[in-house]
Amino acid sequence: MKALVYHGPGNKSWEDVPDAAVQEPTDVVVRVDTTTICGTDLHILQGDVAAVTDGRVLGHEAVGTVTEVGAAVRGFAAGDRVLVPAITKCGRCVYCQRGMPSHCATVGGIGWIFGHLIDGTQAESVRVPYADTSLYAVPPEVTNEQAIFLADSLPTGYEVGVLAGEVRPGHTVAVVGAGAVGLSAILTTGLWGASRVIAIDTNKFRLSTAMDFGATDVVEAGPNTVADVLAMTDGLGVDVSIEAVGYPDTLRTAAALVRPGGTIANIGVHGVAVELPMQDLWIRNVKLTMTLVDTVSIPTLLTMVASGRIPAEKMGTHTFGFDQIDEAYDVFANAAANEALKVVITSNG
Ligand SMILES: NC(=O)c1ccc[n+]([C@@H]2O[C@H](COP(=O)([O-])OP(=O)(O)OC[C@H]3O[C@@H](n4cnc5c(N)ncnc54)[C@H](O)[C@@H]3O)[C@@H](O)[C@H]2O)c1
Ligand SMILES: [Zn+2]
Ligand SMILES: [Zn+2]
Repeated sequence: MKALVYHGPGNKSWEDVPDAAVQEPTDVVVRVDTTTICGTDLHILQGDVAAVTDGRVLGHEAVGTVTEVGAAVRGFAAGDRVLVPAITKCGRCVYCQRGMPSHCATVGGIGWIFGHLIDGTQAESVRVPYADTSLYAVPPEVTNEQAIFLADSLPTGYEVGVLAGEVRPGHTVAVVGAGAVGLSAILTTGLWGASRVIAIDTNKFRLSTAMDFGATDVVEAGPNTVADVLAMTDGLGVDVSIEAVGYPDTLRTAAALVRPGGTIANIGVHGVAVELPMQDLWIRNVKLTMTLVDTVSIPTLLTMVASGRIPAEKMGTHTFGFDQIDEAYDVFANAAANEALKVVITSNG
């Protein structure tokens, strides 16, 4: 089969590799019909993720069809259309039982194993360990082009932003960073009845997209961001401030926007230490949350997509075939210039 193989920083190639096969009785093999690229894949290609070594097949998001089933698998059969999420889980370890499979102790000490610790989903087929507890059947009402965004970005914005931030009816919410993840938070904030959702980004295309995804207001990020948001909220600030960029400055902005009693929900992956003004924050009864996505909200999100309440397909701005995967990476890596959010990569182009 063909797969996108990592060959050290800056190097990848779509090449022949051994076919994915069942290795353990709890495995299945899924033919990948649809996949996508995550910002994390770009970090890997920059050499930022040391655990990813030469020869690893990239990717951790897929929708596909089960082609081979291990002897112990009970819930899936050949021909089933399934969502392969970013997180793999055994369902039994101490973290899985706490509803925190992002740290599944059995699959690798971390639930994110595809394209990281084992071969990933940017391939014609992928081996899925612990299939019974990890895969989700895709309802017939949900298309591949919708389901693919439930593998990672939508659960991240929803779980790490909206749920961790405890958005409640009537709340005012700020989302710093309107990329795929921030937009996913914006898209799902309405489910909890937020009255105002203020999107903040440096990029005008992302801001206009944010309005289309349910933001009520936008602020172009700059020196006056905090003053602008305070002016919009009677000087009070927001109830929930979601950070979806991953820089020290953007987390400090998110922290400066929250009103007393509110929550700062950090989604961003941070590569360096962040200094926060604790001398201002301690007296404001604020909460700061940070989470690695668990993807446990996928059943809820699938139901909401199936009923038409979440238009997940809006996330995909460009479509490519597997044979154009290099072009897909180029478009995604230069998302601003290409007015791209997420790319959809399909087996048949
Ligand atoms: N916690 C988790 O489990 C988890 C999972 C997935 C992704 N993430 C992280 O979430 C973050 C967002 O991911 P993404 O895929 O949406 O990234 P992205 O690069 O697509 O989006 C980031 C957005 O931030 C905007 N931005 C850049 N600088 C800004 C600034 N100074 N002020 C305001 N906006 C600014 C960009 O224009 C862009 O729209 C990343 O840090 C990613 O690593 C976390
Ligand atoms: Zn990802
Ligand atoms: Zn586990």
